[in-house]
This record gives sequence, structure tokens and C-alpha cells, in this order.
Amino acid sequence: MKVRTRSDLAKLRSDGLSTLYPPGLRISVGMATCGLAAGAAEVYDALHDEADRLGLYLMLIPTGCIGYCQQEPLVDVRVSGRGRLLYARVTPDRARNMIASLAAGDLPAEGALAYIPEENSELSKPSEALAGVPLLNELPFYSQQRKIVLRNSGLIDPVSLEEYIAREGYQSLALALLDDTPQGVIDHVLDSGLRGRGGAGFPTGRKWQTCHGIQAQSKYIICNGDEGDPGAYVDRTVLEGDPYSVIEGMTIGGYAIGAREGFIYVRDEYPLAIERITQALAQAEKLGLLGENIFSSGFDFNASIVRGAGAFVCGEETALISSIEGGLGEPRPRPPFPATSGLWGKPTIINNVKTLATIPAIIRHGADWYASIGTEGNTGTVVFSLVGKVANTGLVEVPLGLTLYDMIESIGGGGLNGKQVKAIQTGGPSGGCLPTALYNLPITYENMTQAGSIMGSGGMVVMDEDTCMVDVARYFLGFTMAESCGKCTPCREGTRYMYDILTRITSGEGTLKDLELLEEVAEWVKTASLCGLGQTAPNPVLSTLRYFRDEYEAHVKDKRCPAGFCRALIRLTILPDLCTGCGLCQRECPVGAISGEKKKLHVIDQELCTHCRLCYNICPEGAVEIVR
Ligand SMILES: Cc1cc2nc3c(=O)[nH]c(=O)nc-3n(C[C@H](O)[C@H](O)[C@H](O)COP(=O)(O)O)c2cc1C
Repeated sequence: MKVRTRSDLAKLRSDGLSTLYPPGLRISVGMATCGLAAGAAEVYDALHDEADRLGLYLMLIPTGCIGYCQQEPLVDVRVSGRGRLLYARVTPDRARNMIASLAAGDLPAEGALAYIPEENSELSKPSEALAGVPLLNELPFYSQQRKIVLRNSGLIDPVSLEEYIAREGYQSLALALLDDTPQGVIDHVLDSGLRGRGGAGFPTGRKWQTCHGIQAQSKYIICNGDEGDPGAYVDRTVLEGDPYSVIEGMTIGGYAIGAREGFIYVRDEYPLAIERITQALAQAEKLGLLGENIFSSGFDFNASIVRGAGAFVCGEETALISSIEGGLGEPRPRPPFPATSGLWGKPTIINNVKTLATIPAIIRHGADWYASIGTEGNTGTVVFSLVGKVANTGLVEVPLGLTLYDMIESIGGGGLNGKQVKAIQTGGPSGGCLPTALYNLPITYENMTQAGSIMGSGGMVVMDEDTCMVDVARYFLGFTMAESCGKCTPCREGTRYMYDILTRITSGEGTLKDLELLEEVAEWVKTASLCGLGQTAPNPVLSTLRYFRDEYEAHVKDKRCPAGFCRALIRLTILPDLCTGCGLCQRECPVGAISGEKKKLHVIDQELCTHCRLCYNICPEGAVEIVR
């Protein structure tokens, strides 16, 4: 069947509704890459086999990321008429018990993280048996979230186009093609205030308008799914959990700018995302939602995948274009910007995964609706992968304008294991480290840049008192140095030069002169590099020098690492009062530096010790001390 009319779409919608909200039982397991890494596949198998053994009829679905990665494997159990329960950290054993309870007619409260009332139902509180289970939107992790980009992730079956359609999917494409002109679509995007979510925050409507205004035989639209920042996995998760909204957004974009061909550029390290997108493209083609004469509108659009080799610089738009053309993944100077001269010299729009996934929601619910979320000039939501030394980790989608405090303390639950948060890193290697003194800063594009970081494309890494900020700067510099394509001298040589200085400092061989030199070279690399990689590479250095200069000075003046991290500047000893002589450290020490008889005090040979801190991390009594 080809979808040619709105009633064809309505027919598919009712098919989707019957699997999304079946009578009886539906169990969804969060099986994005994050869930799989936590053991979701084993949980899925246990649920499947036990239900089979007990003859329990149910619909079992592998869904995308449910968001609260900290609590994975997550299992969502829906009983029609009774609502949904979200179970956390499910093991195969617990999964089997769960099936046994469900087979006996119970909705077990044990291990339930939250209750989610049935959609469109008046029932807002769980039954008495579940009285102790909080509502999902009462959990601090979820209470301030507003899901637009992630509206379907963790809810639909990512290989069921019908379920996507049941959640209003393809209504927006129908609206755009049947009721609107390309200029009308661009006007909605302009009015919504949407800014590109790939990092720089350029207004999407303005970019589309430029491209739309150019007469050309061919134009292209590209989805940027390169996502190379350490700590960021939002785009991967969207592609894994809801590939359809990205494809629909891209098709609408193609219509708006006058492109008939699109490319989805995804790094090859994202095999599940590639699989999901491949399936989604094939399904959309089969139903006529890609191809010729979509919705009988006369508009033709095709899309395909390009697998990137995983170079960070290929996320930069001109390098990405070169990579698709089969050339080296190297940037070129702009202008001309891709919107006027891009892929094969033709006008090309490049948008981030999240930007495109937002488009259908704007067309469906209106520009005013979108513009009413967030703040003036920073409308809508932003999605972060909240990771690092924070109690609650996972994907967080919040209205722009929330403060860093809201993100880290309210949603994130503060430092891991009760430790004090020291810094928040956003924007990956192009971003910076902000201190908790800026906790009240509302998260907007301008605020982040003025504070010395950038919004970036989704990574938010939390650092605590045990993190050495000089080492963090060195880590990111090491990354950009390795990922620099080498085409321009400031980036190629400058990142290496800065890295060498940082290595000297963390080894206890730095001088105060090195700090001056570091700042000087950082400014030079920032201003003289060809592309955004080099222009932003010094940000981690400059922001840590700005906010954590005392740590740099302690390294160079006192030869001390206040966080107790830099190997050359610490010593490990065993505290006689606490050591029980269990021998664990002796057995595990990789260089044989620890000796001692069973049940007697152990000692570390300072000559042999490499300061790897394994003993510190494993000692059950906390008897190993770091001398800073
Ligand atoms: C070194 C570097 C890496 C980048 N990586 C990405 C990326 O992985 N994903 C992305 O969408 N944008 C990335 N960008 C930004 C893109 O060049 C481009 O601005 C963006 O894809 C435009 O989409 P948007 O308007 O929707 O934000 C990167 C930029 C630089 C300089």
C-alpha cells in the first residue's frame, strides 16, 4: 500500500494505535545502546522465555532509550486500563518474577521506579497497591523535563512506522505538502525561533530561507549525525529510538528549500543507529512517504545513508560535505557557505539530528506553541546527555533557560556518592568548564558562550572535587590534537604545543612562564585556525585558566595537584590504623609495590609505586591515602 491521502494515513494510524495501546499487556524494554550495555538484551530474553513458558499473552517490544540511563535496564509495563509502571535495574531473575506476578494478575510494586497514568485517562494516581510508587513526573529526574525531540524515544517500537504514525507521525508532512507552500513552511520555522542544535545555534529558518531563495537545478539537505564529542550520545539515541521523526523533518526541509535528495551522515561506530535508519528509510519508501509524488503532491524526495569513518572533524559541515563527495574529511574556508554552495557545489542545508527531529513538532503544533517554550531568543528545548560525576545520569530534555543548578542539583541529584560538584563541562572538546559559582546561569546559547563554554550538541559532563582541571584541559587538548585534520598550521601545531605545555604542568615540570605561554598560544590558535575545530580547541584551556587558575598555580608553584589526580604529584601510603592486612591491595597491585603479611600492616614501596591508585580504589577499609 502507498500512502497517497490523509485517509491512507488515518488507516495506518489506527494500526499503530492497536499495537501501541493493545488490549491487555504491553512490555517495552529500553534497548538503545545504553540499555544493551547494561544488560537489556538478557532481560528481554528472560521476559520472552518466561512469558512463553507460562503461556502469558503479551506484546513485548524493544524500544529506544527511556532516558534514565543510570537506572537501566529499564522495563515499561503497561496494562490497558491500569496505566504503566516503569521498573528500574531489572535483572533477568527479576524479569522472570515480574512475568509470574503479571500472569497471576498482579502489577507488582517491587522495583517499580514510577507510575505513569494511562494517556487520555482521568486516572492520575496509582491504585492502592501501588500507593508508594511515585508518579513519573514527580521524580526529580523527570519533573522539569519537557520532551519534544525525545517525544517518541522509549515509547514507540523504533522499527514500527505505524506506531510512529499513531503518535502523530507524518501528519506534519501531510500538512506541509497539502496545505502549505515551501515559503509557508519556512515562515513557521522562522517564527518558531528554532536555532540549530548542532552547537552554534544558527537560526534554522534563516538558513533555509537563504537556500530556498537560490535558483538551482539540484539542491541537497543533509542530516548531521556525526556526533563525535566525548560524553555526548543524544543524536545516536534519537536515531536509535525514533529515526522516523528525523526522516520526516528532513523531508519537510527538502520541500521547504527545494531539494529532492537528502543524506543522513552517521558515524560507523553507531551500528544500531545505522540499522534503525536503514529500516526506517526502507519502510518510508515502501509506503510512498519517500520517493515520487509524496501524498500525491507532486513533490519527490529520496534519502540515503552515508557512513562516516568516525573523524571528529567530519562533523564540521564543510569537512562533512567533502567526506560525502569521497574526498578527505578536511574543512574549507567559508564563505561560500553550504546554503549557497555545498555538496557538489550545489546549495545545501546541513542540520543536526535534533534540529530535524524538532521540525515535525513545530509544523504540527505551530510556531507560537514552540516559541512559548524556553526564553526569548532561545526558544524550545535542549537535550543533554548528563554524565560524569553526577548522581543521576541519562538523557535530559528541558526548556532552554533552566539554570545549571536545575540541571545538576535538581535533575542530576548533585555529585556522585555525595561528593561536591566542582565543574560542568559542555560542548565537548569545543566547550569549556564552568564552575559551580555560575550555578544560577540560565542555559542559553549566549550565556554559555559569554561564560567561556558553548552549548554544543549535547554533552554535559559533571566533574567533582577529585577531578583535576589541568588534567581535564590536557585530556580535551589531547583529543583535538589527535582529531585535527592537519590542514592548517595553527590547529595542527598549536594544539600539539599546548598539549606539551599541559603535559609538563601535570608532570610537575611546568613554570609560571608556561601559563603565560599557554594563554598566548591559545588565543593565537583560536583566532588563526581555519575551522571551528581549531577555533574552539583552546576553550577547555582558557575556561579552566579563567575559573581554576589556582589549580594551575598549585601545579607549577607548589608542585601539588589539589585534586590528588596527577600521578607525578601524588604519593600513596597505607594508614596503619585502618589497614586490616587483608592483602587485597598486594594481590591487585600491577607492579608488585605492596608487601605485608596476612592480617598485618601492608606497606607501599615508593620506588616501585606508579601511583596508578588501584589500591586506593579497591581497599575495602579506605586505608590507602593519597598524599597531595
Ligand atoms: C569540529 C566540529 C565538529 C562538529 N560536529 C558536529 C556534529 O557532530 N553534529 C552536528 O550537528 N554539528 C556539528 N558541528 C557543527 C556543524 O558544522 C554545523 O554547524 C551543524 O551541523 C549545523 O546544523 P544545525 O544548524 O542544525 O545546528 C561541528 C562543528 C565543528 C567545527
